[in-house]
Amino acid sequence: MADNSKKSGTHSGASKIWGGRFAGGPADIMQKINASIGFDWRLYAQDIAASKAHAAMLAKTGIISDDDGKAIAKGLGAIADEIENGEFDFKQELEDIHMNIESRLGELIGDAAGRLHTARSRNDQVATDFRLWVREALVDLDAALKGLQAALIDRAQEHAGTAMPGFTHLQSAQPVTLGHHLLAYVEMLGRDRGRAADCLIRLNESPLGAAALAGTSFPIDRAMTASALGFNRPMANSLDAVSDRDFALEFLSLAAILGVHLSRLAEEIVLWCSSPFAYAQMSDGFSTGSSIMPQKRNPDAAELVRAKAGGLIGALSALMVVMKGLPLAYGKDMQEDKVPVFESADTLALCIAAMTGMVAEASFDADRMKADAGKGYATATDLADWLVREKDLPFREAHHVTGALVKLAEEKTVSLEQLSLEDMQSVSPEITESVFGVLSVEDALKSRDSFGGTAPGRVLEAVAEARKRFLG
Ligand code: ARG
Repeated sequence: MADNSKKSGTHSGASKIWGGRFAGGPADIMQKINASIGFDWRLYAQDIAASKAHAAMLAKTGIISDDDGKAIAKGLGAIADEIENGEFDFKQELEDIHMNIESRLGELIGDAAGRLHTARSRNDQVATDFRLWVREALVDLDAALKGLQAALIDRAQEHAGTAMPGFTHLQSAQPVTLGHHLLAYVEMLGRDRGRAADCLIRLNESPLGAAALAGTSFPIDRAMTASALGFNRPMANSLDAVSDRDFALEFLSLAAILGVHLSRLAEEIVLWCSSPFAYAQMSDGFSTGSSIMPQKRNPDAAELVRAKAGGLIGALSALMVVMKGLPLAYGKDMQEDKVPVFESADTLALCIAAMTGMVAEASFDADRMKADAGKGYATATDLADWLVREKDLPFREAHHVTGALVKLAEEKTVSLEQLSLEDMQSVSPEITESVFGVLSVEDALKSRDSFGGTAPGRVLEAVAEARKRFLG
């Protein structure tokens, strides 16, 4: 026996919470793999709130006495204070946040503590706590995204008329304005906020009272606990209530999509800050130097935002795989749901704050961007459009004529506007002087006045609309 306990590292005492049928305690390694307190301590506020709601309901329905209900509420309040003040001793042998709190409650109020777990299981308890946690995370995420949108909108207003090259295939395509480009991200983040709002609607039902999996024989009032915790209603099916984590998967999905959006903006910042582009410079606060190359100013924060999308996407796939083969109802596998969610929420908070700072403090080189906006025959489409509009050419023919003009300009190593009228007419005799009115970058920008287009006037309108839609 002594040898055995040495081999497995068996603890002598069985768990006070669930060890009634056990003579010996778990092996050290069992305790280690089983414990979640190292991360689920973060659910303490939700656990206490849910326990308070449960105890109040048990007292109201006469399942426990009023005195016990009051003692439990008071003890839970004291535990919240201890945790807030860093005085609470989290114990691995008590596995998780639920049993750590319940055990401490026993120390503080004695026998009444043992009545709190009536008509409840850790299965509905953890599902409730976790929903409450994700709900708060969604609210915080929305506020952070709103802040980033505000920074982008301010910069877009400032640069509503600042020309820059617009790219497709990362080849100069048509001039756009920097304001227009930044507003594209405001729209993406707006949809990310929409996904968070959708997730919140579906998430906001209470699992509490589902008990272990089948409901309970006590006359509980699930509507009462649901409403005390701000849920819209109790979940309709007890098996579903304890066993699905789709709300966490939705959170991780929207986090991954948002991570992709942030990563694309981060990538553009990295490009814009590189010396061949030199469109933007990050402030000192958001740049780092090189230990060997004194001239360097590196956009590390943007690179890290770009990289952290990897972790966000990984977190989603981790929990998808955890969940995909689980039979109903609860399985301990589900304990692995928390780390990806906590980490994704933390990562997003950090990335959004860094991105907000970068955007707010970046300086842009408008001259440099404007010079590039006209390069690469970026107004060729405007020339083709002019041929269609003024000379009634079918667009395909206009495209062909313009292609020949680009070729000619290339041979002469000049821009389209630098071709003489004679050069132009050598390709297409019907071209007249007025063509030069559409070939400058300014003209190209101004002409793209369709709804959602890049014309500076449209961009200013879009800025005002975005303020109403997203910041109101
Ligand atoms: N720590 C557990 C979790 O996060 C709590 C639920 C445990 N339930 C159980 N039947 N062992 O999933």
